[in-house]
Amino acid sequence: MGSQWKKDATYLRAVREGYRSRAAYKLKEIQERFHLIRETDNILDLGAAPGSWLQVARETTRGRVLGIDLAPIAPLEGVTTITGDLTDHRLRDEARSILGTVTIVLSDASPKLSGNRSYDQARAIGLGEEVLSFACAVLKPGGHLVMKSFQGEDFSALLAETRQHFLSVRTFRSRASRKGSSEIYIVARNYVGCSGALE
Ligand SMILES: C[S@@+](CC[C@H](N)C(=O)[O-])C[C@H]1O[C@@H](n2cnc3c(N)ncnc32)[C@H](O)[C@@H]1O
Repeated sequence: MGSQWKKDATYLRAVREGYRSRAAYKLKEIQERFHLIRETDNILDLGAAPGSWLQVARETTRGRVLGIDLAPIAPLEGVTTITGDLTDHRLRDEARSILGTVTIVLSDASPKLSGNRSYDQARAIGLGEEVLSFACAVLKPGGHLVMKSFQGEDFSALLAETRQHFLSVRTFRSRASRKGSSEIYIVARNYVGCSGALE
């Protein structure tokens, strides 16, 4: 767990309950609200390190679970991991061959922050577009996507782009996000297909 964590109630709860990150409670909240993950789902988690979403995914489905991150993910029972960059298109075939049918794509990925707000926002939106493109390349029709984003310039364009490919798209703010954070989750249900423009 990162030393940058403030030892607040959510952090202490994660330690007590054996999760690798406080982020676990964000996915739990999303699951409580939207009931997206079913027990037969095969789940791909993009930007998965240190692995608390993978832990929650593993607890929630009996299907396959795969995590990808730039950083190595310490082994988790029943979870496959790849160290790699989600913008590398070769990982799409690898994900499909490990998972077979992909029914859920999760992404809590965020770029390293520089402190320059508009630069960081543009990079976060760019990463979101990559996540959307990855999801569209691997998801089964009817599948679901949850991805982290940040409110600000171009967020509404990313949301509109997501709406072109899913029947229902909602946004969700987690109680476990840090105070004052512009972090917001896009919850996109029932994938209907992507245009070639995203590939
Ligand atoms: C907030 S952390 C994810 C926490 C994770 N959901 C958990 O529960 O443990 C964001 C992650 O996104 C990853 N990331 C950022 N850009 C990435 C990229 N291009 N490819 C893969 N992972 C990336 C970072 O390495 C970082 O580990």
